[in-house]
Amino acid sequence: MKRDNSAQKTTFQLGLLKQEILSAQTKLSKHKTPRRLTLPPLTSVADITTWVTNGAYTRKTMKLFNDVCQVYELLLARMEFSTLGDDLAEFAQRTAYFEEINGYKTLHYYLSAVRGKGQIGHSNQYLTHWFYPYKGKYHGQMIKALINFMGVKKNGLVLDPFVGSGTTLVECATLGIPSIGIDINPALCIVSQIKVDSLSLNYPELSRWLSKTKPLDIFNYFFGQVREKRPWFLGFSHLNRDAKDLLTEAWAWHLPEGFIKELPFEWRNFFFLCCLHALSDHTYLQGTNKERPFTEFFIRDLNEYLDTIRDTYTVLQDRGVKLAQPEVLFGSALKLPLPPESVDAVITSPPYSIAIDYVKNDEHLLNYLGIDTSELREQLVGLKGKRQEKLRLYEKDMKQSLTEMHRVLKPKGGAAIVLGDVVVEGFRTNFCSKILSWAPELGFSEAEVIRRAILGGFARLRYEYIILLRK
Ligand SMILES: C[S@@+](CC[C@H](N)C(=O)[O-])C[C@H]1O[C@@H](n2cnc3c(N)ncnc32)[C@H](O)[C@@H]1O
Repeated sequence: MKRDNSAQKTTFQLGLLKQEILSAQTKLSKHKTPRRLTLPPLTSVADITTWVTNGAYTRKTMKLFNDVCQVYELLLARMEFSTLGDDLAEFAQRTAYFEEINGYKTLHYYLSAVRGKGQIGHSNQYLTHWFYPYKGKYHGQMIKALINFMGVKKNGLVLDPFVGSGTTLVECATLGIPSIGIDINPALCIVSQIKVDSLSLNYPELSRWLSKTKPLDIFNYFFGQVREKRPWFLGFSHLNRDAKDLLTEAWAWHLPEGFIKELPFEWRNFFFLCCLHALSDHTYLQGTNKERPFTEFFIRDLNEYLDTIRDTYTVLQDRGVKLAQPEVLFGSALKLPLPPESVDAVITSPPYSIAIDYVKNDEHLLNYLGIDTSELREQLVGLKGKRQEKLRLYEKDMKQSLTEMHRVLKPKGGAAIVLGDVVVEGFRTNFCSKILSWAPELGFSEAEVIRRAILGGFARLRYEYIILLRK
């Protein structure tokens, strides 16, 4: 009879396995770091301020805003500190992400307390950022930190060649740093100009005049009368014109005669923007459960605009903020009207590939101003051409705009380009990688990228990239 020795075999195999495990453990233990006898202090592992300030301070000295929680925000906080943290008094005036330093509130704490519509914490829509509901704004707080990281001084110059609704300019103005914003859409040049000018409106005088005026008379001035048919806008062959000149021409040739024309230029423009805001609300909310009569939008927007102007006036006076005066130019990012090596930093956000129709988004505004939308479409990066050709033209224009940014930057100057990875015809675009690969041939000496997750929000956008380039 054959003996069954399988049980014996298994015990034998298990014995071998145990031996192997033991010898592996012995080998591993040779590589083990010696056991800590003392545990690290909790503050060194749990205090994010220590990490942000590279060990220089703890949260007892410096407090980040409570809503600073995303990785990109912490990185930007660390980056702005690394450039400006040597002088805490100046840092308190400039920081975007710290709320308190040595028991004193920072300037951003006060500025971001001037609340606006759609605001998220201390990041966006404060001050006049929320004026005119432009789709595609980036966050002022992030831009401020990038300006800080690039170490731009009060005698420096920041350029935004795709300025849109002027976020970069509003930030530069409150930092006291000169800036130039350029856009090929004349309507947005006007919006940007009014947003920066409205920062310095004298609220007490404005409200005194308003107390003697009926808001509906203002509304009727803009919408109740026939506007001039004479073309005020000279077209896209007349580039590089100051937005103030565009506004002066619009007032002279396009807007009706009436009592508003007797007001100071900045006041007239303020009411104009408020009316354009109401026009946008009215256009977008038609047919939804938020629909209201046009005049109601205007009255509500006017009251909210005035609240912002009052609070902005108070905070700038109380904190002694000296605003810089940005320049807005109607022009092209593809042929910048600036000499070589004249700019300290470029902070910008070009159109995100070909996915967003910037003309359609603001058609109501362009129509009000009598600007030819098909002509504008031929000028905008990302809207030229059809189907396959569209992407090729976008790529070509992006390369050209980067060549221009490089040309106007001073040696060692930096560019921060914010770009989203939108989906086009089922494919997720990856222009961030393309820009990084072009950087050396365009002459940039360094290139880095920070990724920002888009939480919720626009489904077609998963990440935004902050591409950092150094000349
Ligand atoms: C993403 S938006 C910029 C938004 C801006 N960062 C803001 O916060 O409001 C891109 C802008 O690029 C502008 N643009 C497109 N082609 C341009 C060109 N060739 N030159 C200058 N601006 C252009 C568009 O009109 C649009 O305003």
